[in-house]
Amino acid sequence: MELIFASHNENKVKEIRAILPESIHLLSLNDIGFHEEIEETGNTLEENAQIKAETIYNQTGENVFADDSGLFVDALDGAPGVFSARYAGTGNSKDNIRKLIDELKNKESRNASFQAVFCIILNGKIDFLKGEINGKIIQEEKGTDGFGYDPVFIPDGYEKTFAEMDSEMKNQISHRAKAVQKLITFIQNI
Ligand code: IMP
Repeated sequence: MELIFASHNENKVKEIRAILPESIHLLSLNDIGFHEEIEETGNTLEENAQIKAETIYNQTGENVFADDSGLFVDALDGAPGVFSARYAGTGNSKDNIRKLIDELKNKESRNASFQAVFCIILNGKIDFLKGEINGKIIQEEKGTDGFGYDPVFIPDGYEKTFAEMDSEMKNQISHRAKAVQKLITFIQNI
């Protein structure tokens, strides 16, 4: 089957394509010639994923899914959450990390989770799938791989940050990897 992934992020497209079985042929927004930005105006990951999936479904009528993800920190009541990409207001991940470390300076709990939500519209029917990984935020950056908050996030059961792991390792255990596994099971059971 063909499935559109409503994302302009070619890294994510590549990452997800590598995990999907051959029977699911993933098309990116570039593949279908959709080059506009879709604004993420929702207040939850679910809302943003739904906005993106519905935008493409309304234009194409084809099977589609979209994702949204973020970092949720317990001591900050779930911030930066849905605003993870824009936490410091500059859109720069180094600034976001600096703000996060600063906000956590006097907090006891370092617990956090990365969460990814997929909204899928299959044969016109909408569903949501979620992947999550728990871990801790450390006080200084470690590692150079990955993106976003990877240098300050150590997943539970590991000693390295996401930015110290090779991408293969991260892509086996991440919130997105878990959501993709659920997506595969979901599609195979339709
Ligand atoms: P989006 O799902 O691409 O919109 O990601 C939202 C933001 O959440 C990113 O810009 C990052 O700040 C953060 N984020 C989501 N997933 C990850 C990850 O795997 N590592 C580090 N940061 C992430």
